[in-house]
Amino acid sequence: MKKLYVKTYGCQMNVYDSARMAELLAPIGYGPTDVAEEADMVILNTCHIREKAAEKVYSELGRLKKIKDGRPLTIAVAGCVAQAEGAEIVARAPQVDIVVGPQSYHRLPEMIAKIAREGGHALETEFPALEKFDALPKDGSPAGVTAFLTVQEGCDKFCTFCVVPYTRGAEYSRTVLQIEDEARRLVARGVREITLLGQNVNAYRGEGLDGQPWSLARLLDRLARIDGLARLRYTTSHPRDMADDLIAAHGDNPALMPYLHLPVQSGSDAILDAMNRQHRAEDYLRLVERIRSARPDIALTSDFIVGFPGESDKDFEATLQLVRDVRYASAFSFKYSQRPGTPAAAARKQIPDDVKDTRLQALNALLLAQQDAFKQSCTGRRMDVLFEKPGRKAGQAVGRSPYLQSVHVDGADHLIGQMAQVTIDGVYPNSLKGTLLRQKELAH
Ligand code: 5AD
Ligand code: SF4
Repeated sequence: MKKLYVKTYGCQMNVYDSARMAELLAPIGYGPTDVAEEADMVILNTCHIREKAAEKVYSELGRLKKIKDGRPLTIAVAGCVAQAEGAEIVARAPQVDIVVGPQSYHRLPEMIAKIAREGGHALETEFPALEKFDALPKDGSPAGVTAFLTVQEGCDKFCTFCVVPYTRGAEYSRTVLQIEDEARRLVARGVREITLLGQNVNAYRGEGLDGQPWSLARLLDRLARIDGLARLRYTTSHPRDMADDLIAAHGDNPALMPYLHLPVQSGSDAILDAMNRQHRAEDYLRLVERIRSARPDIALTSDFIVGFPGESDKDFEATLQLVRDVRYASAFSFKYSQRPGTPAAAARKQIPDDVKDTRLQALNALLLAQQDAFKQSCTGRRMDVLFEKPGRKAGQAVGRSPYLQSVHVDGADHLIGQMAQVTIDGVYPNSLKGTLLRQKELAH
């Protein structure tokens, strides 16, 4: 058995793709290893979203070169850097054998065979999305309690800072039949919670069971009927695509978790316009109100970019104000990074790095305070916890709350793979502590 080491950078879709690549290579004799030094083949599944993410790949390639100097090793670069840079990667790092984009990785087995036969390099960066999903293996390795499932890929929004429309291509939705089949297989392998993935997941318009395009809400309704599937989530959404039926689903679909990642990026109308986000700050606030009236206990999270070209102190203050108005459960914030080929990269009014640093710190302080307040507000609450694995202490199990928080519970190790109600009675830096409700309490 040959050994495969896969290193994943970036988003959850890369996590999904990495698992699919490992499954594709299993039938041709590759088993997983966590140690690059032991591997016969290494796949770096890369991210191009910010400069830092992309640069990490080249430092890892430097490390791999040293291993390869001593013995045979096949090196593949997959993911969004592969898509964006293509043959440039081999020019800069000749130790790379294979470059394969996110829509062509189903061709990995033939690419491996080709370089074994002919030597040299293999490169695939086409966009045959339809073909990819058909070509992926149907049954993979044993799954855990939670799983990702890609339902939509690509993006047609063209936010002016973002590489995704170029690296992942145009929007494409898988059919309901194909998704339901994959979901059922996951549940049969023990999965209880599925997160539907898409770069613009709420723009999902896949062919439904009646041959008509179905919305994400209809897809979620269909999947919620699968026996044994307890929880559904979806990510990432664009505010413009939060359709009425999807908002309503947050009130009506009991499997849908009260947790929504809804990136806004900025609270300034001028910056939102320059980013081509196609909505104003006010529209976002109204949307949040509507979502909260459908599901009052929903927790919201977001992404923010500070130091977008032309961002003034006033624009940044508008972002802070929006954060104060919304009250997030948690959020990610990033310094704007100039990405090659995107419109904003060419803008004249780039913001100096020290200004970006100061703004990032101020925003993070506010978001951290909100995150802490949300966590504290969980104490004393009853929540369903889906148990995923044993904890460090004997008898302890660790699961997830509806809000994706890790919850440690004593005397729950017999409940792994199941859901149970707990009372939250402690807050740790990165998790919560809960106590199982006794049967008697559950009756009330
Ligand atoms: N610079 C900084 N952050 C970016 N993001 C996307 N592109 C850039 C960029 N050029 C952030 C956005 C997006 C998240 C996944 O990454 O906030 O929502
Ligand atoms: Fe990028 Fe905007 Fe598309 Fe999100 S919606 S992937 S930020 S272009």
